[in-house]
Formats: sequence, structure tokens, C-alpha cells
Amino acid sequence: MATIRLGDEAPNFVAQSTEGEINFHDWLGDSWGVLFSHPADYTPVCTTELGTVAKYTAEFEKRNVKVVALSVDGLTSHEGWVNDINETQNTTVNFPIIADEDRKVSDLYDMIHPNADDTMTVRSVFVIGPDKKVKLMITYPASTGRNFDELLRVIDSLQLTAYHKVATPANWNSGEDCVIVPAVTNEEIPALFPKGYTEVKPYLRMTPQPN
Ligand code: BEZ
Repeated sequence: MATIRLGDEAPNFVAQSTEGEINFHDWLGDSWGVLFSHPADYTPVCTTELGTVAKYTAEFEKRNVKVVALSVDGLTSHEGWVNDINETQNTTVNFPIIADEDRKVSDLYDMIHPNADDTMTVRSVFVIGPDKKVKLMITYPASTGRNFDELLRVIDSLQLTAYHKVATPANWNSGEDCVIVPAVTNEEIPALFPKGYTEVKPYLRMTPQPN
């Protein structure tokens, strides 16, 4: 298992899932991707997380993001658990859940942190760009459910950087002013940012959100 760092190519794998066999890179195609792990099936926090992600389907689709979950339990277990999630969270899980019984993918992505727990995965999140590069990694403990609004916020920021050459300041939310990346010269600004900009300092140039 090699350490994965931001900017690395997301390791490819072939795995069984609730929606059939997945070749990860082929499945991603030209989309952005989210790969997120769950400590175990039939656990309370995970149940709420998967229900929440299912309810955010339109938000992920709007951003051209495909979502895939993973836990180290098997397909039969996943299928029964999905019924429970749909029933208790009042939703329909409509994304694949990888059955990683042999921990192949968990090991590839270093999702098991033995000093936290040597069998279950932690709550890892990987955001992968259309270039298959890892753009974001977040790790939560098993006991803390993730904030999927924060995940969407980061995806918005990543996509603004990728498509519009802006970064986003502390506590930014979609619709608020952005930071022009240092690589853009002042001469390039009028063409790139027709909404204008404010130079607070030569290294701190703000512009209305471009998109
Ligand atoms: C849960 O998903 O509820 C959970 C899983 C492992 C440890 C603690 C909570």
C-alpha cells in the first residue's frame, strides 16, 4: 500500500458493488467522483450518512459528481442494509456500495487505521477529478457522521479553481467573493474576471464568484 497524497492518480480497482462489478476509472468516466468508506453495515451513523447522500443526489448530479460508498461487508449484507436505509431514512439509495470483504480497496486507499480499529474502516472521503487525480482527502472517526454540506462546499471550491482560476477564502460559501489565484497576473484579470476585482494587497485580490 502506497501513501496517497493530493495530486496523485486515484488508484484504480475492480470490485463488486450493489450495482454490479465496477472498474473504478471506467465507472468514473469524465465525471468527478466521491469515494467514501463506512465502518460497517447495519450501524446507526452509517445508516444516516447513506440516507443523506441519497437525498443529495440532485446536488451531486448538478456538479457532475458520481458517488460510490464502500464497506468491508459483503453484497448480501449490503443489499439487506440498503432496504433498512431506504425504510428508515425515507429515501432510495441510488449509488453503488462496494463490497470490500477482502479489504482490497480499503487497503489500497489506507482506509483502515489499526490504532483506531483494526477491522473497520474509518470514515474516509476522497474527491477525484475528471483527470483521475485525488483533489481532496478527509478522514473522520467512526463515531462522527460526516457533514455532506461541507463536502458539496469543497467540491464547489475545487470546481471553481479548476474552471475559473479562483481559490476560496476562509468560511467561504457558494455565492460569496473568491480569491484570484496568485498565478494570474493583474494584466490577465480583465479578460478572466469581467465582474471586476478588488486589490486588498497585491497578493490578496478578491473577485465576485465568476460562475
Ligand atoms: C456507526 O456507523 O454508527 C458506527 C460505526 C462504528 C462505530 C461507531 C458508530
